[in-house]
Amino acid sequence: MDQTGALDALLHEERVFRPLPQMVIEANLNPHELEQAQEQANRDFLSYWEDAAHELDWFKKWDQVLDDSNAPHYRWFPGARCNIVYNALDRHIETANKNKLALIWEGEPGDQRKYTYYELYREVNRFANALRSLGVAKGDRVVLYMPLLPETTIAMLAVAKIGAVHSMIYGGFSAKVLRERINDAKAKLVVTADGFYRNGRVVNLKQIVDEALLGACAECVETCVVVHRANVDAEMHEPRDLWYEDLVRRERPSSPTEVMDADDPLFLLYSSGTTGKPKGIVHSHAGYMVGINRTLNWVFDLKPTDIFWCTADTGWITGHSYVIYGPLVAGTTTVMYEGHPLYPQADRLWDVVARYGVTILYTSPTLIRMLMRFGTQYPRQKDLSTLRLLGSVGEPINPEAWVWLHKHIGGAKCPIMDTWWQTETGMFMISPLPISPLKPGSVNKALPGVEADVVDREGNPVPAGKGGFLVIKKPWPAMMSGIDNDPERYENTYWKKIPGMYFAGDVARKDEDGYIWIQGRADDVLNIAGHRIGTAEVESALVAHRFVNEAAVIGIPDTIKGEVAKAFVILTDGWEAEYDTSEDLVSALKNHVRRELGPVAVLKSLEFRTTLPKTRSGKIMRRILKAEELGEDVGDTSTLEDLD
Ligand code: WT7
Repeated sequence: MDQTGALDALLHEERVFRPLPQMVIEANLNPHELEQAQEQANRDFLSYWEDAAHELDWFKKWDQVLDDSNAPHYRWFPGARCNIVYNALDRHIETANKNKLALIWEGEPGDQRKYTYYELYREVNRFANALRSLGVAKGDRVVLYMPLLPETTIAMLAVAKIGAVHSMIYGGFSAKVLRERINDAKAKLVVTADGFYRNGRVVNLKQIVDEALLGACAECVETCVVVHRANVDAEMHEPRDLWYEDLVRRERPSSPTEVMDADDPLFLLYSSGTTGKPKGIVHSHAGYMVGINRTLNWVFDLKPTDIFWCTADTGWITGHSYVIYGPLVAGTTTVMYEGHPLYPQADRLWDVVARYGVTILYTSPTLIRMLMRFGTQYPRQKDLSTLRLLGSVGEPINPEAWVWLHKHIGGAKCPIMDTWWQTETGMFMISPLPISPLKPGSVNKALPGVEADVVDREGNPVPAGKGGFLVIKKPWPAMMSGIDNDPERYENTYWKKIPGMYFAGDVARKDEDGYIWIQGRADDVLNIAGHRIGTAEVESALVAHRFVNEAAVIGIPDTIKGEVAKAFVILTDGWEAEYDTSEDLVSALKNHVRRELGPVAVLKSLEFRTTLPKTRSGKIMRRILKAEELGEDVGDTSTLEDLD
C-alpha cells in the first residue's frame, strides 16, 4: 500500500481492540484508579504532579509545584534540590535493585555486556571523577557524539552527576553539523568512540570528530575522550585526545553527586524547526525526572521483572527519556543494541527479544514496515512469548503495520502503546494505557495531567472529525525549560502561534470518542523515518553548492520511511562544463547534501526547474509544489494555513 493509501486507511479505520481481562487485572493502574487520577488531574493538576514527584528522592523538597509567574517560561518545583542521577543510580544501591541488571548491551557482532545497578554506578563514578579531573565543572557543556555503547549511558550519567550539561549529537549527522552544534553549545569536551559497527561495516567516528574539530571555535573543546570500540586506526592528537579506558582506570569508583537546583539544565538536544538553524532544546533535572518516571511507569506498566527494550538511538529524545533516564530512574532493566536491525539478517530484533526475554518492546513504525517486508518467517522462528506490551513512536503508524505488529509479534495479546510526544515535551503526552481500548493508528487520549486538544488558529476546539492544530493547554513537568540562548524563539515558536497554548506543530483530528489521530506536521518539517529534518536545512545545504541558485524541498510519502525529501532546484549557468549529464549532477547534489548534513537527511529525488512558486513576499510555497507532486488539488491543502 502506498502512503496515500495508508492515510486513506487511517481515515477510515474503525476497528477497536479491547484489552484482555488478564491485562486489566494485572495492570499497575486499573480502570478505577485511572478514573481517580483523571479526576484529580482535572480538578487540581498540580496536586496530581506533586504526587508523582513524591515517588522520587530529593535533597530538598520544593517550595512550590509550579511557578507560572513568568509564563510561558514555567518553572517546575522551584526551591527543590535534586539530581536525576541520584534517582537513576545512587538510590537503587540502597535497595534490592543493587544487584539487579540495569543494562543489557549487545554489539552488532554479537558481543554482550551486562551491568547491574551497582556496576553501572561504579563505572559512572569513575568517569565522573575523570571528567572532574579534566576540569569539567557544573554548568559546562559536554558533547557526546557516540554510537550505542554502554559507555554512552555511562558518559551521559557521569556528565549529569557532576552537574554538567550533555548535548548528544546523533551519529548520522555530518562533521559540519557536529561542528556547528559544538560551537553553538560552546562545548568544553567531546566524548566519542574510535568507531562502531553498522550493517557489517565499521564507521570511523573519530575521523568525523577530527574534521569537526578542525574548524571548531577556539575557546571550545579542550579535550576529546575516545572510547575503544571498533579497533580502527584513530589518529590521537596530543594533548587534546585521550583514551577513555586510560582515564577511568586510575579513578576511584565513588564520586559525590552534585546537588542541583530544580531547573538547572540537564541536557541540550538539538531539534529541527522551520528555519535552517536547529533549536537547542533544554531540559532540566526536576520536572524531567518526574515526568518520565510517571509516564514510563504507567504507559508501560513496569513490573520488577520486566526487560524493557526501546530500539531508539540515544542521539534522539526517545533514547534520552526511554532508553537511559526513564528506565533507570524507574529501576527497570534496559536493553541497548548497537547495530543495524537487519544485521546479519532480518531476524535480529526477534532474536534479541527471545534471547533476553524482552517483555516490553518499544519501536518505530518505520522499522515495523521494514520488517514486515520479510513476512512472518523470521518472527515465527523465535520465541516471542515473553512480550507483554508493545510500543510505537515517531510518526503515525498505519493500521496495516499496527495490525501486523499486534498479530505476528504480540501474538494478539500485547496491547500497542502508540505514544505521541516530542523532543520539546520530554515525556509521553498522548498515549493509551495498557487498559485502554485501542484503535489502530490513533494515539488515543492525553495522559492524566496533560491537557491536549485539536483547535483552529484562534484556539477554538474544532468539531469531531475535522482537522486542526494539536495543542497542549497546560504546562507539564518534563516540558523543555527553553531554547538555549533564545527565549524569544521559544515564545514565538511554541506559545504565540495560537495564543496561550503550546503549539506542537502537528495537525490532527479527534473522533467522536475523543480519540486523537495525528496527521502529520503543520510546518515545514519533514519526518524521515521518525527523524525530524527541516526543509530549510536541506535547502540551505543545496544552495551551498555552487551550481544551485535556489532550492525548495518538500516531503513526499514513502512506504517504508514515512516521508522522504524531494528537491526542486534552479541551477546556475555553467554546470554543463563540469558534468557530462544531468544525472551526474543529480547524484553529485545528492552526495553533497549527504556530506553537508549526514546520511539522516535522505534526499530521494531532485528535479530541475526554472522558477519556483512564491508568495508576494517572496516565500517559497512548498504546499503548491507538494500538491502538484501528489496530484492533489492545491485548494485542498490550503485549508490549514501556514502558521509562520
Ligand atoms: C514529532 C516529534 C518523541 C518521539 C520521537 C520524535 C511526530 C511523534 C508520534 C506518534 C504520530 C508522532 C510528531 C511530533 N510523532 N510521535 N506516536 N504518532 N506522530 O521526536 O523528533 O521531537 O519529533 O514526531 O510529528 O511533532 P521529535
